[in-house]
Amino acid sequence: MYRTVLQRNGRSAFLVLNEYCGRSNTGLGVNVLSRRTIIDLSYSTHFMDFKGSSIPSSMKKLVVTKLSQNFRSAVSLQTVPVPTPGDGDLLVRNRFVGINASDINYSAGRYDPSVKPPFDAGFEGIGEVVGLGLSASAHFTVGDTVAYFSEGAFAEYSVIPAKKVVTMPAAKPEYLTMLLSGATAHIALRRLGDLREGETVLVTAAAGGTGQFAVQFAKKAGCHVVGTCSSDEKAGFLKTIGCDRPINYKSEDLAATLRKEYPQGIDVVYESVGGGIFDLSVNSLANKGRLIVIGFISGYKSASGLQPITGGTLPAKLLKKSASVRGFFLPHFLSDYRESLTEMMKLFAKGQLVCEVDRGDMDPEGRFVGLESVFRAVDHMYAGKNLGKVVVEVAPVVDSKL
Ligand SMILES: NC(=O)c1ccc[n+]([C@@H]2O[C@H](COP(=O)([O-])OP(=O)(O)OC[C@H]3O[C@@H](n4cnc5c(N)ncnc54)[C@H](OP(=O)(O)O)[C@@H]3O)[C@@H](O)[C@H]2O)c1
Repeated sequence: MYRTVLQRNGRSAFLVLNEYCGRSNTGLGVNVLSRRTIIDLSYSTHFMDFKGSSIPSSMKKLVVTKLSQNFRSAVSLQTVPVPTPGDGDLLVRNRFVGINASDINYSAGRYDPSVKPPFDAGFEGIGEVVGLGLSASAHFTVGDTVAYFSEGAFAEYSVIPAKKVVTMPAAKPEYLTMLLSGATAHIALRRLGDLREGETVLVTAAAGGTGQFAVQFAKKAGCHVVGTCSSDEKAGFLKTIGCDRPINYKSEDLAATLRKEYPQGIDVVYESVGGGIFDLSVNSLANKGRLIVIGFISGYKSASGLQPITGGTLPAKLLKKSASVRGFFLPHFLSDYRESLTEMMKLFAKGQLVCEVDRGDMDPEGRFVGLESVFRAVDHMYAGKNLGKVVVEVAPVVDSKL
């Protein structure tokens, strides 16, 4: 009998009985090696590398403890043991996590109604690998910077399957903006937009996390881009990223402006707001126009998750214009994901893509630092105050030893 002790952080974190090996006689005069596994101690299952990492024994994470679209009442901050990665997993120390409008759809249980609380919150993170299993060590090592788009990101440490992560040049929040928000715009416009040079594209919530990318990709496709937003500051930002006609709907009448300035209609709408803005967008479509349903944030805080639309007349409106409404949900387009991310990373490296990050500098309580500030960050977004992608810094940089 022998035992294996795997060291973690200088402490004997794992004490595992390997297997009992002894010789027995079969009665046929042949001695064979009999193996009686006490615990499955295959090398791959129990190899874990934490070399150089300084990992505490406990950490904080955000857990959905009851289903509600009210994020503050649904989610609580808990202190739990740092999880251990399995054979194919990485233990990632999150540096930045992204806030998404759908964080409250998730806390309301709208993603998978069969999943009951408690469950972990947060969709995306970027950070350093601080521990990993044997299979994962074929492609990653302690110290690598990785980003991922997977549940359970609102934690100081997350265990993520190695196959779900992408290696990043640095743990910068700008890289995080492309993972979900950028990818949504890139793939949705490419697959469902059918953009043609010279067409007019309307982007709603244009200065937000995904809107900013839709503006830039539509512009790169040679389109005339119109973007809605709720402040002059956002309108100014939209100009800087190539939006031809930012419309601050708080100071201008959106419907009247679209009617007056785009009498031929809008060819493609990248629509994130829903309710009345969806109706207005349908009414503004040109012949053969395409409206891509990206989301309907105006309804997420309601019990149903939706604001009413005038659906009854929709078939007639679409038919009269040979127009279409197309839904897009990123998880259905994962086969396009790596290619899209690679293209965006190249554009960013060449300085041809703006990845605007909102870290809460303008929030009255200051920058979003620490998991506690995820609550403020969600409120900031829902107050329509964010300019760019809302990002929370989970852990400020500490020196070298990870
Ligand atoms: N389909 C997918 O796979 C997918 C993936 C990612 C995101 N999305 C969707 O994309 C949309 C934007 O998400 P995001 O995470 O990138 O958020 P975001 O755009 O960074 O922030 C939300 C923005 O929505 C605007 N907004 C308009 N009406 C609002 C209302 N009633 N309440 C709150 N905000 C309102 C606000 O901008 P203004 O004040 O300037 O209008 C606000 O800043 C959401 O609908 C989300 O569900 C979909």
